[in-house]
Amino acid sequence: MSRIFGFLVSLVCLVRMGVPSHKWSMQVPSDVTGEAGGGVVLLCTFTHPHKYYDGMITVIWRIREPYNGSQVFRCVVHSSSDHCQTAVSYKGKYKLLGNPRHNNISIKVDNLTWADGDRYFCRVEFAGDVHDRYESRNGIRLHVIAAPRIVNITVLPGPDHIFSARCVAEGEPLPSLTWTGPSAGNSTSTYSQSHQITTELHALAQDGRYTCTATNSRGRAEGSVYFYKFRAAGDSSVLLTLLFALGIKLLLLLVMLGAVVCQSRVHSAAQETLSRPQVQESNYENLNHGNNRAPPVTAAMQ
Ligand SMILES: *[C@@H]1O[C@H](CO)[C@@H](O)[C@H](O)[C@H]1NC(C)=O
Ligand SMILES: *[C@@H]1O[C@H](CO)[C@@H](O)[C@H](O)[C@H]1NC(C)=O
Ligand SMILES: *[C@@H]1O[C@H](CO)[C@@H](O)[C@H](O)[C@H]1NC(C)=O
Ligand SMILES: *[C@@H]1O[C@H](CO)[C@@H](O)[C@H](O)[C@H]1NC(C)=O
Ligand SMILES: *[C@@H]1O[C@H](CO)[C@@H](O)[C@H](O)[C@H]1NC(C)=O
Repeated sequence: MSRIFGFLVSLVCLVRMGVPSHKWSMQVPSDVTGEAGGGVVLLCTFTHPHKYYDGMITVIWRIREPYNGSQVFRCVVHSSSDHCQTAVSYKGKYKLLGNPRHNNISIKVDNLTWADGDRYFCRVEFAGDVHDRYESRNGIRLHVIAAPRIVNITVLPGPDHIFSARCVAEGEPLPSLTWTGPSAGNSTSTYSQSHQITTELHALAQDGRYTCTATNSRGRAEGSVYFYKFRAAGDSSVLLTLLFALGIKLLLLLVMLGAVVCQSRVHSAAQETLSRPQVQESNYENLNHGNNRAPPVTAAMQ
C-alpha cells in the first residue's frame, strides 16, 4: 500500500518537474527591441545532459555570426561558486543577469547605440569534454529604435543667389520629414542612409522662418532656420543676403509628442518580446557553419 502510494508520489513529482531532458538545447527569443540610450535584456537559457554539474562554466556572447563572430561578453564561473567573473565586456556595456548554475546566461546591454543593432549568439562551455559545450545558432536579432532627432538644419547658398534649406534628422523607424514656412510646398528632395534622412527645400523665395518636422512612431521633433534677404540701400540690383542659419543653435528641439507615449510603447514592445515563442534548438551542437543559417529576421515594428 505504502509502496504504491510512494510510487504515485514520485510519479506526480516527475510529472511536475518535467522529464529531465538529457540533451543540450538553448532557448532564445528571435527578436528583441530596445531604445537608443537605454538598456535591453537578451534572454538565454539552456538545458544540459548532466544530472548534476558543479564544475567550471564559461559563458560567451558573440555578435554577427555563430561560432566565429567576435565575442562581446565572456565570464567564467569557477567550481562550486555562483559568481561569474567577467573576462570580456566590450565597452563595458554587457553584464550577466542570469545565473549560469541555474542554466540562465541572460545578459543586459546598456547604453544602446545604432551600432548595437546586430544578431547575438549565446554559448556555454563546461570544463573537460569538447562535447560539453553548446551555442545558440539562431541568435537574437536586436532592433534599436529611437524617437526622431534633428541632427542639423541649415540654409545653403547656391548659384545665382538661390538658397535652399537643408534638414538632417535621424530615428528608427526612419522619420518622415516635412517643411513648413512662408513658401513651403515648393520643390524638395529627400534622401536617406541607414538611420539618417535629409530633405532639402529648394529655391527659398520668401523671407521668414522655415521649420522642419520629423515624425515617426516613437515621437516627433522639429527645428527651424530663419532666412532673410536684404536689398542694399541705393542699389537694388545688388543682393546682400544675410543668412541666419541659426539652425540648432537657437532652435528649439521640440522633442516629442510624449515621453509618456513613448514609454508605454517601449513597455508594450518589451512585453511583446517576452511573450514571443521561444526558439527551441536541436539536440546536438550544430557545427555546420554558413550555408544553413537562418535568414535574417526582418524588422516588424509599429
Ligand atoms: C572565421 O573568421 C575568420 C577570421 O575572422 C575567417 O578568416 C574565417 O573565414 C571565418 N570562418 C567562417 C566559417 O566564417
Ligand atoms: C533568466 O534570467 C533573467 C534575468 O535575471 C530573468 O529575467 C529570466 O526570467 C530568467 N529566465 C528563467 C527561465 O529563469
Ligand atoms: C553611452 O555611450 C556613449 C557613446 O558611445 C558615450 O559617449 C557615453 O559616455 C555612454 N554613457 C554611459 C553612461 O556609458
Ligand atoms: C550643419 O551643416 C552645415 C552645412 O553643411 C555645416 O557647416 C555645419 O557644421 C553642420 N553642423 C553640425 C552641427 O553638424
Ligand atoms: C516657389 O514658390 C514661389 C512663391 O511661393 C514661386 O514664385 C516659385 O516659382 C516657386 N518655385 C518652384 C520651383 O516651385
